[in-house]
Amino acid sequence: MQPVRVGLLGMGTVGGGTIRVLKRNAEEISRRAGRGIVVTQAAARDLKKQRIVDTAGISLTTDPFAVVNNPDIDVVVELIGGDTIARELVTKAIANGKHVVTANKALIAKHGNEIFAQAQAKGVMVAFEAAVAGGIPIIKAIREGLAGNRIEWLAGIINGTSNFILTEMRDKGREFSDVLTEAQALGYAEADPTFDVEGIDAAHKLTILAAIAFGIPLQFTKAYTEGITNLTSEDVSYAEQLGYRIKSLGIARRAANGIELRVHPTLVPARRLIANVDGVMNAVLVKGDAVGPTLYYGPGAGAEPTASAVVADLVDVVRMMTADPENRVPHLAFQPDALSDIPILPMAQVKTAYYLRLRAQDRPGVLADVTRILGDLKISIEAIVQKGTADGVATIILLTHRVLEQNMDDALERIKKLPTISGEIMRIRMEALNAN
Ligand code: HSE
Repeated sequence: MQPVRVGLLGMGTVGGGTIRVLKRNAEEISRRAGRGIVVTQAAARDLKKQRIVDTAGISLTTDPFAVVNNPDIDVVVELIGGDTIARELVTKAIANGKHVVTANKALIAKHGNEIFAQAQAKGVMVAFEAAVAGGIPIIKAIREGLAGNRIEWLAGIINGTSNFILTEMRDKGREFSDVLTEAQALGYAEADPTFDVEGIDAAHKLTILAAIAFGIPLQFTKAYTEGITNLTSEDVSYAEQLGYRIKSLGIARRAANGIELRVHPTLVPARRLIANVDGVMNAVLVKGDAVGPTLYYGPGAGAEPTASAVVADLVDVVRMMTADPENRVPHLAFQPDALSDIPILPMAQVKTAYYLRLRAQDRPGVLADVTRILGDLKISIEAIVQKGTADGVATIILLTHRVLEQNMDDALERIKKLPTISGEIMRIRMEALNAN
């Protein structure tokens, strides 16, 4: 049988990795897929650029539209990123009846609903394993491996750049800004690194995970996003002393009245496996009602790890090409006409525990004022520690039990107004991530 002809859009890190893996493992891939898979055309911005990958047999062009309009291409692999030109190209490829494999998290999170509807109407597949957590097959795991479960929650370290920064802050006591430059040099950071450190990249990925876990449409604009830019090595160290690690987590949870969808720095008990995922590695913890907690760990970016996911998608697409579109795995795991309209909860309606750090005058009655406000707002304290005094001002760390975020917002407003409290109050959310 003729090999399947792939058109590649983008010849950067992942594009190069994809060509290499397809060539190196060609024989095994063809035994798995039932047909060979070859890149026959590729679009790159700069054809003169020195490449370490062997492009023999690949027709190169600077015009990506030439690829999506080429009648001799069966599957388009989109590795350009962003949601402008990439969106046009994917839409055009679908209109031309081509299957699409993409690593583009922003595109899927923001425009996936329309893209999947177009693909369904044309009877083509759009596969996006590489969009979330690089080489970890998390889409496959949730969409197919856990299909018997009612997913209760998931929590993931899904931005390697942030995790690298937090790991350095903890291990070496370095400050945030100091580590960022080094993280960018590692080549994992997004074109716009604020996407990494402000939680936007993680929110793109979380939006996708939540949709396939709960059977809801993609709703990126409703995700709560808070970055790691305000974290200090002081808080990282206090958290450590209390038996916690600070991780930037994407959390999606099925609550009684809606879905929580949030990315923010989070204190996690240090003994949890996920708390020990360091450097640029990714991990996703998924709790299903039948299976219990499951953890998926691996490289979240990089040339061949991401290519591993791209090629797996290509194999899937090739295997399913001849299947009736109605019998393929739905893009968002649930049948498109069976998606739920359960609302995404605003952050004020989310329930979580908290770490608070405040500076208070070190004299009788000061702490009583603080705890009275917390008590009035039904916030139960789990622990209080005083971390030394300088110039008559004490640093107080408070850990609370779970409470509605609205109550915590109200409490902090009132505590800030106390004349005995100085400076900003640091608030970091805290999750037990246990089997319940
Ligand atoms: N910027 C991303 C990260 C790359 O740091 O994890 C993979 O999506």
